[in-house]
Amino acid sequence: MRLFVAIKFSPEVHSALTDAIYDLKTQSFGGNFTKSENLHLTLAFIGETRDVGKAKDALDAVSASQFEIKLGGRGKFGDLYWAGLEKSPALSDIAAQVRRELVNRGFEIDTKPFKPHITLARQLRCDAPPVFDVYPASMMVEKISLMRSDRIDGRLRYTEIHSKKLGGTT
Ligand code: 2AM
Repeated sequence: MRLFVAIKFSPEVHSALTDAIYDLKTQSFGGNFTKSENLHLTLAFIGETRDVGKAKDALDAVSASQFEIKLGGRGKFGDLYWAGLEKSPALSDIAAQVRRELVNRGFEIDTKPFKPHITLARQLRCDAPPVFDVYPASMMVEKISLMRSDRIDGRLRYTEIHSKKLGGTT
């Protein structure tokens, strides 16, 4: 199965992102928009694997306290429109830790620097570059999730198959 490790969003962060997607939709006449239920922040992309147990073990080995993330920044890489996050050492640390635990268990993880982004839309068809804003909503990250990605009747569906609770703040 196809797996990745992600942070799922609180209702406030989720709604700031769906508002941004709405802005993009209203300024275009087509495109591939992230479905509301699929919004997430990827910490590590694992890809196709049968070693689900090892991936779960990697999450369980992560040791981190809960931390805050806040939406901040937006932009475009190629044909992909994204929302960003304010710089967060705790976020960079947990992404590095997840990747290290996966690599220690034999997974081949992308070694490119972690650039936290949330994909809002791809391949927009519009007459003028869209203008969009992302409300700077914030949330506490209380867990990280192992996600399975399936394509069912051409539609992407992400399902949480395991999660690791983070420690309480001190
Ligand atoms: P993206 O939105 O920038 O494509 C599930 O596919 C998640 O894993 C998405 O958040 C996707 O990021 C991310 N991802 C990272 N590397 C990937 C890769 N090589 N192939 C597919 N998805 C990847």
